[in-house]
Amino acid sequence: MATPTLLILPGDGIGPEVMAEVRKVIGWFGANGRPFTVEEELVGGCAYDAHGAAISDAAMEKAQAADAVLLAAVGGPKWDKVPYDVRPEAGLLRLRKDLELFANLRPAKCFDALADFSSLKRELVEGLDILIVRELTGGVYFGEPKTITDLGNGQKRAIDTQVYDSFEIERISAVAFEMARVRDKRVCSMEKRNVMKSGVLWNEVVQQTHDARFPDVELSHMLADAGGMQLVRAPKQFDVIVTDNLFGDMLSDVAAMLTGSLGMLPSASLGAPDPKTGRRKALYEPVHGSAPDIAGQGKANPIACILSFAMALRYSFDAGADADRLEAAVERVLADGLRTADLIGPGGGKAVTTSEMGDAIVAALG
Ligand code: NAD
Ligand code: IPM
Ligand code: MN
Repeated sequence: MATPTLLILPGDGIGPEVMAEVRKVIGWFGANGRPFTVEEELVGGCAYDAHGAAISDAAMEKAQAADAVLLAAVGGPKWDKVPYDVRPEAGLLRLRKDLELFANLRPAKCFDALADFSSLKRELVEGLDILIVRELTGGVYFGEPKTITDLGNGQKRAIDTQVYDSFEIERISAVAFEMARVRDKRVCSMEKRNVMKSGVLWNEVVQQTHDARFPDVELSHMLADAGGMQLVRAPKQFDVIVTDNLFGDMLSDVAAMLTGSLGMLPSASLGAPDPKTGRRKALYEPVHGSAPDIAGQGKANPIACILSFAMALRYSFDAGADADRLEAAVERVLADGLRTADLIGPGGGKAVTTSEMGDAIVAALG
């Protein structure tokens, strides 16, 4: 088999710092029988500075051709004033939309060694393992019209539009049910059918998809606001949560704090399997952003980005055993008490820099 290609997009802020640690991990796998051809491109503010666009067409072509794309983070205050269409985040949104990466998997797992770092009590999060399945190419992120209009009377009007077609709801709920089948077989769907038409349709299509194709999985429905409350009241009640683009964005940042730090949460964004090859286009990225407040100080936790690469091993390269091995290495360094700045707190531990954390994970790989 040809060596698979990985396109790496370090981006802005702490992005290059955490991606440097992922490169060490990729290097370890290369030296141990799983080589990758690694290419690198600009995305976000750095791409805007270089090309005047948040991602160039050439970089998009490489992303289309790659076996998987790995992105760290985009954005930052330096680009607060750039035109909306070329703001750093537009590069990430273009990648998701053009690659049709509709299924965003955001697992939130609480490692035992970090159970005291959660903002919740240990017993509420110990052993927590939930998966948020976020719809990623529709909803209010992409719906038209999306405008700010001058009303001419000193007032302006901003419009964002939430749009969902039934096929989009069906395919994301099918992903959630499929994921649940290899987990605890429970899906909770979250929307706001009490206020939003898209919530009414969401609820209906998820239920139909369940009844027609996945009756073996237990399905429940919750209003998304109540779901947010339940997530911090008793998070272990959930197995898989399926929700729309915006609710999924917010609920996954909430879920991050159940695990101890936003610096711990990886994600995978997947397209539909190609009918001929079965291959899914895929982008792997941490849930966190560019963390401008700590950029350049060696304080960033590289684990979310490293665990995103583990997800790439699992979902793009059929290398589940290697993914397990990498996750076990992360677990081991945390159990050994190594802590980046975001994890300094209960129980002490050994303070390490971003780079020291990456080195320790590579050493723990064997
Ligand atoms: P953020 O996720 O960048 O930071 C929120 C807080 O979490 C900060 O205090 C930060 O220091 C901390 N944090 C985040 N990642 C961390 C890590 N790996 N290790 C240690 N601490 C970490 O969110 P924000 O500050 O709201 O956004 C900053 C910029 O990032 C914005 O421009 C936003 O649009 C962008 N953003 C990008 C992505 C992405 O590229 N996927 C995701 C979210 C936000
Ligand atoms: C995320 C981020 C992005 C989103 C931004 C940077 C566009 O917050 O991946 O969670 O809102 O989807
Ligand atoms: Mn987010």
